Formats: sequence, C-alpha cells, structure tokens
Amino acid sequence: MAKAKTSWFCTDCGHESSGWLGRCPACGEWNTFAEADRVTRKTPGKAPRTWTGEERAEVKPLAEIDGMQASRFQCGLSELDTVLGGGFVRGSLILLGGEPGVGKSTLVLQVLGGLGESSLYVSGEESPAQIRLRADRLGIRADDINLLAATDLSRILDAVRERKPALVVIDSIQTLYDPAQSSAPGSVTQIREVTAQLLQLAKSTQSAVLLVGHVTKDGQLAGPRILEHMVDTVLYFEGEANGPYRIIRAHKNRFGATDELGIFEMTGTGLSPVASAADLFRLGRGTGVHGSAVTAVLEGTRPMLLEIQALMVPSVYTAPLRTTQGLDRSRLSMLLAVLEKQIHIGLLNQDAYVNVTGGIRIGEPSADLAVLAAVLSSVKEQPLFGPAVILGEVGLTGEIRRIGQPERRLAEAVRHGFQTVLLPAENKTEVRRGMADKMENIYYVNHLNEAIDLMFTT
Ligand code: TYD
Ligand code: MG
Repeated sequence: MAKAKTSWFCTDCGHESSGWLGRCPACGEWNTFAEADRVTRKTPGKAPRTWTGEERAEVKPLAEIDGMQASRFQCGLSELDTVLGGGFVRGSLILLGGEPGVGKSTLVLQVLGGLGESSLYVSGEESPAQIRLRADRLGIRADDINLLAATDLSRILDAVRERKPALVVIDSIQTLYDPAQSSAPGSVTQIREVTAQLLQLAKSTQSAVLLVGHVTKDGQLAGPRILEHMVDTVLYFEGEANGPYRIIRAHKNRFGATDELGIFEMTGTGLSPVASAADLFRLGRGTGVHGSAVTAVLEGTRPMLLEIQALMVPSVYTAPLRTTQGLDRSRLSMLLAVLEKQIHIGLLNQDAYVNVTGGIRIGEPSADLAVLAAVLSSVKEQPLFGPAVILGEVGLTGEIRRIGQPERRLAEAVRHGFQTVLLPAENKTEVRRGMADKMENIYYVNHLNEAIDLMFTT
C-alpha cells in the first residue's frame, strides 16, 4: 500500500498526528484537527539553509555579533510604533491578527501612507481599484504606495527581491499560495510553508514583512494561531466591529515589551489615535451618582484612568450572584469577603454586578480599593465624597497595600483635572514634593476602615 501523503494538524498549535483526534494532546483544544499535506523537504540530501539565508551556520562568540543590526524605522502612527517597541525592526516578520472587519486593511494602508521609506503593499483580497478608492477616502497620497495584486508566492518573492522595500505588507496571509504545494490557499500546510518562505525573505532582504491574518473570536480558523511561534512579533487588533474604538497590543515581541497598547477610534476618514484613554471612557460623567469610582491602572508603562461601576441589588438566590466585566470574579469575591470579616458589612443577601467601563480588562490589584468604593457607594446609595482617583491594593486583613509607580498614575490624574487622590500610606515616600503640590488633596490610608470613613463622610 502506498504511504499516505497527508497528515492531520491541530489548527491551533500545529501538532501533527497520523489520524484525526478529537482533542489535541499538545494544546488540549477540542475539535481543531484538519487534514493537510505532509511537509516534505523539497531538496532531499541538501542541508537546509539557515534563516539568514547563509549556506552554513558558524559558531561565533556573542560579543562579536553586531547588536546594531536590529535597526528600526518608524511609521507615521506613533501608537503603532510604541506597541512595536519603537518602530519596525528591519528584517523582522510581524503578524497582525484580528477579526474580519476590525480595520486591519485600513490600518496598514495608513501605515504605508505615512511611511517615509520604500514599501510594497501585496493585496490578495481587494482589487487595486478598491484600494485606490479607500486611499482617496483616507486622504492618503497614492503615489507613495506601490501595489501588487497577487496571491502567487513566487511573484511576491521576486518583486521583493528586486525592489528590497523597507516594509512589505501581505494582506492577507490566508490568500497566498505556493504553487509547489498542492493544498488550497488558507490550509494549514500552505500557511505554514508560505510563512516559512516569507521569514527567509525578510531575513535575507532585511525588509520588514507584516502579515495580516484573520482570526475568528475563538481563534479557530486555520491560520494565525499556528504562526505565532514562527514570527518575531504578534500584534492583535481588537475591538467591537460596530463600536468606534480599536485597541492594538503586542501578544509576543522579540524586539520589545508586550505590555504596551495603542488605542484608535474608527472614524469616517480612517483610524485616528486616541491620546487619552480617559477621554475615551468619559470619566467624570459618574461623579455625583452612586456606584461609581475612578482609578488609574498601568497598561505597560501607560497610565490609564478607568471608571469602575458597581450595582448591588437584593438577591433572590441562595447563593448571591457575583458578575464582573473586565475584572477577575474571584478577586471580587475575595474583596467582598474582606468587607464582611474586617468591616462587618455582610453582602451575602445582595447580588453584585461590577463593570470596568470601556471594555478594558484590569489585571492588577491596584484597583481593589476603587472596586470596594464603588460597591459600598451602591450599597449605601451614596456618591463618593467628590471627584477622586482611588488607588490601593486591599489585603486580607483589610490593610491597604502599596501599588507600583504611583507618580505615573498621579500625573495622569492631574492631566485630567483630578485634584483629589486616595493613596496607600506605604507609597508616601515615593511621591515627590513637586507632584504633591499639583494636587489639592492626597489622602494616605493604612486600612480599609480609614478609607471608608474618608470616602463617605468628608
Ligand atoms: P477593513 O480595514 O476592511 O477591515 P479588515 O481588513 O480588518 O477586514 O475595515 C473594515 C471596516 O472599517 C468597514 O466595515 C468600514 C470601516 N471603515 C470606517 O468606518 N471608516 C473608514 O474610513 C474605513 C476605511 C473603514
Ligand atoms: Mg482587509
């Protein structure tokens, strides 16, 4: 019997198996196996090239290697440059993933339009006329952009080797195919093979290559997920397709941190950067109403003011509901337990709904005190003492623990006109005089008791 030429691959992690499996043994995902051609080496016997395209790899002391090789160039969108860690690295391979319709093509067109360097836009999805129309609508000078409407990988490789542009955009990776592979465009084999060749292209020509890839909500579709380990940088472009805001963040970055984030608004004339997250989340609208508190979190090095809202209502269930959005549910349960045990405010007869407005997810405990402030304000049906930014982690004994980088958060609060801040007493030595002078009141608190007295009586 002839040997089977196909294998089964997990579309999430790329794990290979000789037959279909319900659950991937490597990543544990269910129902992700798809049949695809087995990867065969095209030139048997010949050693594969290194990723820089050299025939032989040599052993060298690390000190002899020139670190300056990772030189960068910036695009017009400073939000994107920041997320990349300071601009595009020459010769790097970047994946920009996102759901269909989120605005990936719009973003890359704006990047190309504002680029001071040579570029090539490869489109396999839209016709040149469509792209021209969009460029006109976005007010982009069309003569700065070189367009190649192609899906055949060999034509793209030729064009890039000939022109050696600083940036190549492939929109999208799912539409490309390598004629040497028999499977259909968008299949696991094609995507993996095409990406491997683009990786070599990027390293040998020193062009930065940006791959646009579609992902569905659960990352199911054959595609970007299996590429994550091959590329240097993975960016995700997120946002509700019918809402105006979009967030770009790095999921992996070999040339920078992964904790930066850029915010855009989708307007009639393309994406425009949102400089301040506070404007975005309409802070202050909540002052004077109960169940609302403002806090400052750090996303990477970027401070952001966020509003936390709580709604407490009598429960009709034996186990009260604890519903959260943008916040860890078990963290909320813990905070309510602290309230019960240390402050003797029992909330077991009340359902709790706590939301972070604007669709942001809080991952640090510095917002604990603000969460409790919003909860208590809703329970008491009493607004907080005034517009204030509330900072502090709450410990199990009700103590208020120090938070990281208070100065950055205070600066952001001042920038948005907040004059009052609640801060853990442990942070007192970190706040410089200059900063303290910019505020009317900085209240330092040691314990939840003190904080509650302040917020609801002053
Ligand atoms: P698009 O960039 O085509 O998304 P993707 O490449 O991720 O599939 O943009 C999709 C949406 O963006 C489209 O539904 C219309 C909207 N849009 C605007 O609101 N304003 C604009 O200026 C442009 C170009 C698009
Ligand atoms: Mg598109």
